[in-house]
Amino acid sequence: MKHLMLLSLVILTGLLRAQTLSSPNGNLQLTFSLTEEGEPMYSLQYKGKMVIADSKMGFTIMPATNLNAGFELKGSYKMEKDSVWQPVLGEYSQIRDHHNELLVKLQQWNTDYVLHIRFRLFDDGLGFRYEFPEQPHLRHFAIGNEHTAFKLMGNHKAFWLPADYDTNEFPTTISSLEAIPSLIDKVREEPLAAKSPTENVAVQTPLLLKTDDGLYLHFHEAALVDFPALMLNLNAQEHLLTAHLVPDKNGVRGYIQTGGMSPWRTIIVSDDARDIIASNLILNLNEPCKIEDTSWIKPIKYVGVWWEYFIGGGSTWAYKENSHHYHAANTQHVMKYIDFAATHGFDAVLVEGWNKGWEDNVAYYKEHIYSFTEPYPDFDVAKLRNYAASKGIKLIMHHETTSSVVDYERQLHQAFDFMKRNGYDAVKTGYVGPIIPRSEYHDSQWMVNHYNYVAATAASYKIMVNSHEAVRPTGLSRTYPNWIAQESARGTEFESFTGIAPNHTTILPFTRIKGGAMDYTPGIFEGDLSLYGDNKAKLSSTLVKQLALYVTMYSPLQMAADLPENYEKHLDAFQFIKDVATDWDDTYVLEAEPGAYLTIARKAKGKQEWYVGGITNEEARQAVIDFSFLPAGKNYTATIYADGKDADWRTQPKSYKISSKKIHHKTIIKQRLAPSGGVAISIKEDK
Ligand code: NOJ
Ligand code: CA
Repeated sequence: MKHLMLLSLVILTGLLRAQTLSSPNGNLQLTFSLTEEGEPMYSLQYKGKMVIADSKMGFTIMPATNLNAGFELKGSYKMEKDSVWQPVLGEYSQIRDHHNELLVKLQQWNTDYVLHIRFRLFDDGLGFRYEFPEQPHLRHFAIGNEHTAFKLMGNHKAFWLPADYDTNEFPTTISSLEAIPSLIDKVREEPLAAKSPTENVAVQTPLLLKTDDGLYLHFHEAALVDFPALMLNLNAQEHLLTAHLVPDKNGVRGYIQTGGMSPWRTIIVSDDARDIIASNLILNLNEPCKIEDTSWIKPIKYVGVWWEYFIGGGSTWAYKENSHHYHAANTQHVMKYIDFAATHGFDAVLVEGWNKGWEDNVAYYKEHIYSFTEPYPDFDVAKLRNYAASKGIKLIMHHETTSSVVDYERQLHQAFDFMKRNGYDAVKTGYVGPIIPRSEYHDSQWMVNHYNYVAATAASYKIMVNSHEAVRPTGLSRTYPNWIAQESARGTEFESFTGIAPNHTTILPFTRIKGGAMDYTPGIFEGDLSLYGDNKAKLSSTLVKQLALYVTMYSPLQMAADLPENYEKHLDAFQFIKDVATDWDDTYVLEAEPGAYLTIARKAKGKQEWYVGGITNEEARQAVIDFSFLPAGKNYTATIYADGKDADWRTQPKSYKISSKKIHHKTIIKQRLAPSGGVAISIKEDK
């Protein structure tokens, strides 16, 4: 491991105002300066071209103290770091962290307040954060505003979600920045369980932009700890983005104690879309793993008593006597899922609707709803524990809180203790609906602390967490790898509600998934929901595209979401889901254009096996799959799962063809993908 640290004191007083920093390969250049008024400013260039022009930094402290002007430079320090680390689970088994750092220490003339800003410049982008050192005149304060700005160089194409304090489940809209104000109200009409739109025109992070000359810019944050989530105000005419921290309902945008710091503000930059997907910048900016023994943290491929709740076939979470509905989380039914999981080599079965409280789950803002230790009478915990263990299957616990969060924290230790006593080592948490305490939003600081507390507490019980409706991830899975996945975006459940656009999964790997793995729950084979009842929804993809998602949507937690009977009708195609790995040594992004297509190959961790997933939006296309990622000098057999000739997501989604082909590292395959179609390939080395 190469580990080089160079520490140099550059300047002590504010004699020289502008400081520059280059990325290790010199492509990116950061300039930091103080204006005459002592305002901190930064700009960023890529290959000699400005991408972020002079932009402001700093805060307002409540009620009205500026922490964004009147500063002088007290010192600045540069450092280079080049090291390699190993994630517990991931897209790569080795990640290189190579960056140049600039730390500037600022002090305000009139207040003596001290603010530090730390920049890290990588070959693939910039991260910077504010640090609030302990100091004599400032101890506790409340943030009124963060002033960080991103002054863009044009009317870029944006892949955006409207800013909302309570949800990330909007579809992505693609438009120019200038068009956003005229589109945003309409986009916000999307029916979602809890919504708190910002009053002004603002968008969420991760935000992806593409400039007219083909540069991709990705904005997000890393290591969101004890701070509210970052959204971005948009001044569309000036192409200006400014920080918009999620407030609580008192309007406070962060309660800070000096000694603390902000999350990293991140900008990933490249003129090649594939680099955005391949970037590890956000993980690199997170703290190393805090869990000493990680041997219990394992990838999980699972099935579950889940999709049947969405298709309109009569299954319900709630157990009600004398109801004509079917309470699906009953012992016999769960045993069938365990059998199916065991027959097909899955690791686990998720069961939703097992615990008391669901009969009241639509109660808006009700505080005490669920018990996380009391099952319904038809769910035999001990019997299922023993049965699952006898078949080598784990059960995944479900904790839907409907956002009654204080109640959940009260029960948390008992709930985790109950899980461990009954053989569960993974939990899916859920935060549907408005938050209790009623002062909070899903993405406010108090809730950020809650999600992090649950992940850390779960780690102390050796429990893995898959959170739904939590604040979107910011790379914290590096620090808490037991936080194995999150939803925090529009997932497969929407195939049964208002739908998913065919381009959706060509965008998420560029946006949401940059923060961490997504529990997207792919694998729907029967996409015509009218077969079950009166749900008219139709799946937005071909069957083969559903297979490809296991490769393109990175997650060490992958569900085969459809009903067992639908897999039994297509066991040949199901084989891909059974085979595909969930944890990887290496990832090769072969083709990528956000909103259009994506082809990714990955090497299974510790195995001579590779998997390829290629997907397209509603346009048919020809994927060009170059197998030069395979080691030379060996022969391989590829099993190719392709859309059938007549495949089309609207008319023939289930048309597919499976073939086998001998390949080596010089092979290039041209493969046609149907409209909203895909290709999935599994590759094994010939013996
Ligand atoms: C929303 C989650 O995303 C979904 O997976 C879950 O089944 C429901 N909430 C019920 O908890
Ligand atoms: Ca959800």
